Amino acid sequence: MESVTKGIILAGGSGTRLHPMTSAFSKQLQPIYDKPMIYYPLSTLMMGGVQQIMIISTPQDTPVFERLLGDGSRFGIHLQYAVQDQPRGIAEAFLIAEDFIGQDNVVLILGDNVFYGKLDFLRTAINAHRTGDRGATIFGYPVQDAQRYGVVEMSADGTVRSLEEKPAAPRSNLAIPGLYVYDSSVCQIAKGLKPSARGELEITSVHQAYLDQERLHVELIGRGIAWLDTGTPESLLEASTFIHAIEKRQGLKIGCLEEVALARGYLTTEAFKASVEQLPASPYREYCERLLN
Ligand code: TTP
Repeated sequence: MESVTKGIILAGGSGTRLHPMTSAFSKQLQPIYDKPMIYYPLSTLMMGGVQQIMIISTPQDTPVFERLLGDGSRFGIHLQYAVQDQPRGIAEAFLIAEDFIGQDNVVLILGDNVFYGKLDFLRTAINAHRTGDRGATIFGYPVQDAQRYGVVEMSADGTVRSLEEKPAAPRSNLAIPGLYVYDSSVCQIAKGLKPSARGELEITSVHQAYLDQERLHVELIGRGIAWLDTGTPESLLEASTFIHAIEKRQGLKIGCLEEVALARGYLTTEAFKASVEQLPASPYREYCERLLN
């Protein structure tokens, strides 16, 4: 059945590894080179074709995101905001967003996950959910330090053998990036979860529930896609350096929301021009203006 696909950006958490930077404002507002972090996951959702998006953050930071991005009309999308009053785990997003999700499919992206490259894998997964009866799609991405992430182990025939959250001795090198696609039953699944030993509603438990129902799909992504993590000072610096290197080399910006809106047809040329006219004089505005030439 054809339906809208909604999006959620989870942008709360404590960001303790980035202290003292995160004592004033949240991780997802920190700069990655020339833009606030949240521009990157938001552009990922937009490029995936998602236009109705809920941003969930802390009581202190939610108003700041609202000031930054507004109702989304500048980018031809609809944004709404909700508060997570304590970081009780990623899966709590589905309890907070239950009414927003309704009967639709939903893509969740963590606000500190940066993707660069062709996003066909995401569009393909969203389409598969739209046109078929699919429970959940998660992705597997090879990394050297899998113990830091949720890890998926695959059998030779492509089925999932196990899921583990931050295992001390990972059974594979396939980390699960913070980008997932679900059907609307994710809310029911989240309601049935109990907090883990660390007191969180674990996203891995959601995936385990789909796996138990034999409704979990794993798609492998790897070469051709950069997936950057930005949770530590070093990874934040590396992400900035990466974005800077590509933008400088190509003269093209990564994560420019106005540009994505124009390219995807969310804004007409006229609406794009009106949006850019609101921007203060800046290299960012000059870049947007050059796109019309
Ligand atoms: P983490 O990196 O696991 O946690 P954190 O951001 O609180 O950072 P630290 O470990 O340094 O304290 O979170 C991953 C993403 O999910 C990040 O974007 C924050 C978000 N998040 C929430 O919004 N709410 C939550 O309850 C949790 C656990 C995470």
